[in-house]
Amino acid sequence: MRVSITFVFHLLSIGTLMTTLVAGFILDRKIRREPDIHLKIYTAGLSKSIGLLSPVAAILLLLTGIANIHNRFLGYPSEWYSEGWLVAKIILYAVMVFNGMFYGPGLMRGRLKVLRSQAEQSAPTNADSQIRSYNTQITLFYAVQIMLFLLIVYISVFGTAKHPGAI
Ligand code: HEM
Repeated sequence: MRVSITFVFHLLSIGTLMTTLVAGFILDRKIRREPDIHLKIYTAGLSKSIGLLSPVAAILLLLTGIANIHNRFLGYPSEWYSEGWLVAKIILYAVMVFNGMFYGPGLMRGRLKVLRSQAEQSAPTNADSQIRSYNTQITLFYAVQIMLFLLIVYISVFGTAKHPGAI
């Protein structure tokens, strides 16, 4: 039997990325429901720590993905970009990484800053509406990331020139 270590690590990285997404989403809901401001800040700190795993997972996915391409096209007459599912996947992955680097962390930091100012009694008068606006944008952020993630899994598993069949 031929095995690919990089493929195993690819699958483990997928699990790690999914864990950070789901844990981040659940902790975000807890932050919103928690009435105690100090516990809100504590939970936001926990969420930040778990979020630190996502760049690790993203780098591992890229490295193992490149190794998968090497393995998959070894001795193939065609180039890797001849497979549409793979090109689409890399584009979606780039959007996901961009979103995760520039959009999400800024929103979390912004909300945490307002929460801290509320705890220190130095919050601006519109602090509540600022929090509501951050919450809406964070919901949108998670919705986009989870949708991109599921789409990538879908095209990876059912992509053209890959495993035929629907079950
Ligand atoms: C969120 C990011 C990613 C997810 C969720 C993901 C998911 C998956 C899944 C589920 C498979 C297994 C498909 C199957 O065998 O039925 C797979 C395979 C593969 N992935 Fe990814 N992947 C991601 C990122 C990447 C990246 C960035 C690359 C390339 C740079 C890549 C390249 C590949 C290749 C070439 C295979 C096929 C391996 C083979 O069949 O020999 N992946 N991926």
